[in-house]
Amino acid sequence: MKSLVGLGLLSTVLALDFQWSHHGQEYWATEIDRIDKGDDVFNLSSRVGQEGLGFFRIGDVDWPQFCRALHTDVYAPGAYAVAEISGQLVIAKAYQMMDDPAQAFMSGVLPKSGDSYKPFSGRGIPVPPAVGGVGPLAGLRFALKDLFHLKGIKTSAGSRSWYAAFPPQNHTSGIILKTLAAGASVVGKTKTTAFALTNTRNGWSVDYHDPFNFRGDGYSSTGGSSSGSLAAAVAYDWVDFSIGSDTGGSVRGPATRGGVYGYRPSQGFLDLEGVVPCVVSLDTPGFFTRSPTIFSKLFGVWSAGTELEMTSDSFSMPRKIIYRKEDGNLTPELRRELGAFFDKVQSHFSMTSSTMSLEETWMNNVRNQTLDHYFATVYSDINAKESWDLNGAPLFKAFGELTGGSAPPVDPSVNLTWTNGQNETIRARYNESLRRAQEFRDFYSKFVLPADPTTCSESILASTYEGPEMQNRQTLVPFGVTGGAVTGPFWSTVPPAFGGVSEIIVPFGQMPYWSEYTLQTEYRPLSASFQAARGCDAVLFRLVDELAEAGIIGEVQTGKLAYPL
Ligand SMILES: *[C@@H]1O[C@H](CO)[C@@H](O)[C@H](O)[C@H]1NC(C)=O
Ligand SMILES: *[C@@H]1O[C@H](CO)[C@@H](O)[C@H](O)[C@H]1NC(C)=O
Ligand SMILES: *[C@@H]1O[C@H](CO)[C@@H](O)[C@H](O)[C@H]1NC(C)=O
Ligand SMILES: *[C@@H]1O[C@H](CO)[C@@H](O)[C@H](O)[C@H]1NC(C)=O
Ligand SMILES: *[C@@H]1O[C@H](CO)[C@@H](O)[C@H](O)[C@H]1NC(C)=O
Ligand SMILES: *[C@@H]1O[C@H](CO)[C@@H](O)[C@H](O)[C@H]1NC(C)=O
Repeated sequence: MKSLVGLGLLSTVLALDFQWSHHGQEYWATEIDRIDKGDDVFNLSSRVGQEGLGFFRIGDVDWPQFCRALHTDVYAPGAYAVAEISGQLVIAKAYQMMDDPAQAFMSGVLPKSGDSYKPFSGRGIPVPPAVGGVGPLAGLRFALKDLFHLKGIKTSAGSRSWYAAFPPQNHTSGIILKTLAAGASVVGKTKTTAFALTNTRNGWSVDYHDPFNFRGDGYSSTGGSSSGSLAAAVAYDWVDFSIGSDTGGSVRGPATRGGVYGYRPSQGFLDLEGVVPCVVSLDTPGFFTRSPTIFSKLFGVWSAGTELEMTSDSFSMPRKIIYRKEDGNLTPELRRELGAFFDKVQSHFSMTSSTMSLEETWMNNVRNQTLDHYFATVYSDINAKESWDLNGAPLFKAFGELTGGSAPPVDPSVNLTWTNGQNETIRARYNESLRRAQEFRDFYSKFVLPADPTTCSESILASTYEGPEMQNRQTLVPFGVTGGAVTGPFWSTVPPAFGGVSEIIVPFGQMPYWSEYTLQTEYRPLSASFQAARGCDAVLFRLVDELAEAGIIGEVQTGKLAYPL
């Protein structure tokens, strides 16, 4: 059953890849080193230290043993395969091949040389064992949205035209470097809606097929735009966390749909270098996890050395919780579940509560005009102009040069956004739109989530992005604000984004629903959202740590059910 792929490359300097199967499981290994065996009997244990069991000849491999961590100053901890070829020993990093039934990935990735990667071109995703690496994220495997650059790999930004027009990236984005430096391993790049714009539910995914959200009946929306990162976090035990980005809701929406932990940082504090932009003043990196522990650990890594880093003795927890009055049109059952969860949170922290209407707070303090009215075109105008200037125009140029003048085919909503981005009337409103956005950010910091000298954030704003029903994946919905509609609602995930504050999604339960697809009862995950003042992200992670410690929240599992029945 064993086979060596690429033996023909043996005499060249090209790295050798091995593929083999053992007890029905496929493995992959990619060369990282070659040692002259010489005439002497090669002494593996002298080479790899006392725990030399990590090295095996192809054919003698047993994965459980294989997964043992190696501690050696020659090779980093991890799993390796060794093949003896023409008197040389080829040392290769070993991976287990995993299927991607959720279609979450663009492709897997393998290390090439130095800090560079190559795409895995075969079927499936090569996944390293949960050992290895050095640092707080050692042994953790992650996937990243294909909006972030990885050196040696093309970035698609969810667009086939973009993928065709630009070469492999020559550097890795800053936040990904930081994640890797903390010891985590990257397994692959995940799908995004084109330029983080297209609505996943509009059935118009011209470019790449939208991934599947395995929760419930498996036919509900991924939420978009971090679709693949959400789908991977929901579906695969071998993805410990996944990285997405959030401009107007692209982490918080999907995290809600999938019932996993999701983080949108306070805007403007974390490195966005090497990430395809969407709306510069709103873009943030973000992440998804199933485990509250990994959730906090990753925040520790990302915040280190930034203004978001706070020691736990530098603040005490806020004692006020504010509930949003505008929480959707929730069913009574959903409202009851949510209320019971919030009661536990409130009593755990001995918080006093109040309610707030964003609309009334705005109208009473700033302008006697509804948010929907005052901000009708703000998001779409900024988005259209920036998406055209930063992505559209360069793509038209590069794609045209590549094809001898062809326009780049794009998703209809991208096309509409870019058409609007070139419209002089809309462009002329840009500065005024930015001014209104800033006005809203100031309002949020002053009247919604003010800072506090002892608790960092005066209060915690509690809400949810649940709707009355699971959103199925195929319903045709209008383009919406990001699609470039001239008027559109100031929809729910957008205010905190404009506010520039931090927000997390916290799963807490599940509820039965009737599926039109499986014609049986399925379970939808339930989650809440918490916001803290701009820059006070650490407060939210302390909230998660303490709730997890008290057993009020915990790890969610992969697959249909977030929690065992
Ligand atoms: C191999 O190396 C180890 C560690 O240096 C040493 O303890 C062992 O005796 C060596 N084995 C042989 C067969 O030389
Ligand atoms: C990557 O390429 C760009 C231009 O394509 C160049 O400006 C930049 O210096 C390169 N960066 C590295 C790290 O090589
Ligand atoms: C706000 O506008 C409404 C009607 O447009 C008016 O009735 C109301 O008096 C105004 N309130 C304030 C505080 O200006
Ligand atoms: C894209 O938009 C242009 C207008 O800017 C329009 O002429 C064209 O038909 C659109 N293409 C598609 C496929 O919708
Ligand atoms: C530009 O946008 C304005 C405002 O939405 C619209 O009224 C106008 O028709 C558009 N112009 C063109 C040429 O499409
Ligand atoms: C918008 O602001 C920029 C920078 O302040 C300025 O250069 C530009 O002329 C302004 N555009 C319009 C249409 O007012």
